[in-house]
Amino acid sequence: MNKKIRISTILKMKSEKQKITALTAYDYTFAYLLDESGVDLILVGDSCGNVCAGYETTLPVTMDEMLYHIKSVRRGVQHALLVGDMPFMSYQESIESAVHNAGRFMKEGGVEAVKLEGGEPVCPTIRRLVEIGIPVMGHLGFTPQSVHEFGGYGVRGASEIEAERIRKDALALEEAGAFSIVLEKVPAQLAKTVSESLKIPTIGIGAGVDCDGQVLVTYDLLGLFDKMQFRFARRYADLSGSIRKGVSDYCSDVRAGKFPSKEESY
Ligand code: KIV
Repeated sequence: MNKKIRISTILKMKSEKQKITALTAYDYTFAYLLDESGVDLILVGDSCGNVCAGYETTLPVTMDEMLYHIKSVRRGVQHALLVGDMPFMSYQESIESAVHNAGRFMKEGGVEAVKLEGGEPVCPTIRRLVEIGIPVMGHLGFTPQSVHEFGGYGVRGASEIEAERIRKDALALEEAGAFSIVLEKVPAQLAKTVSESLKIPTIGIGAGVDCDGQVLVTYDLLGLFDKMQFRFARRYADLSGSIRKGVSDYCSDVRAGKFPSKEESY
């Protein structure tokens, strides 16, 4: 029987050098399958904008869309720590709007923590959220909500200036009270240095093996979203292939009058 994972569990896992497993979920079915499979942390990522809604970036995702996904996932999760991703412009405008929106995630959606992107500039917001009892996960490196500022999807922290910024931001997030930090698409050596400098765990995605945990978009891990393939996203299954085959077999059977059979009829 899997035990309930709490923030304290995640912190203890870092101190005991146990790797943390994290994946994204956007609906009830995936949520209970991931939860039953023993993943430690489930993130309702704003990547739902890409893989569920078909947006090109995560920028159009709204609070209402996130809340729909979060509530669906909440009903499927019993053991994993549930984290909700704050969508673009739900926390950047003011600390008050961040408190209001993070509060909705907890009160209406039932998340146990929220994730927001950025370094030093979001620290006052993190401090306030933590102060009022809303745990926060940070996100540094390639932060998808800043894709236009970055001008593309490349690795972040490759130059010494940017690497130093990320190292400083990580310490600032920890000092502000974040309980963990996602490090996305940064050089493995930088992620190792950052992970060693912090008491809180780092959760890597395209950030090498020395992070304290790993997260992937579940649709990438299972080969369900095959419109883009990222070097860091190892495929553990080929669901898109299985779906295409299943659907085309079904269509052939229907067209040939082979479905339904007598046994499948009343
Ligand atoms: O939105 C998301 O799914 C994420 C993870 C990839 C970390 O932010």
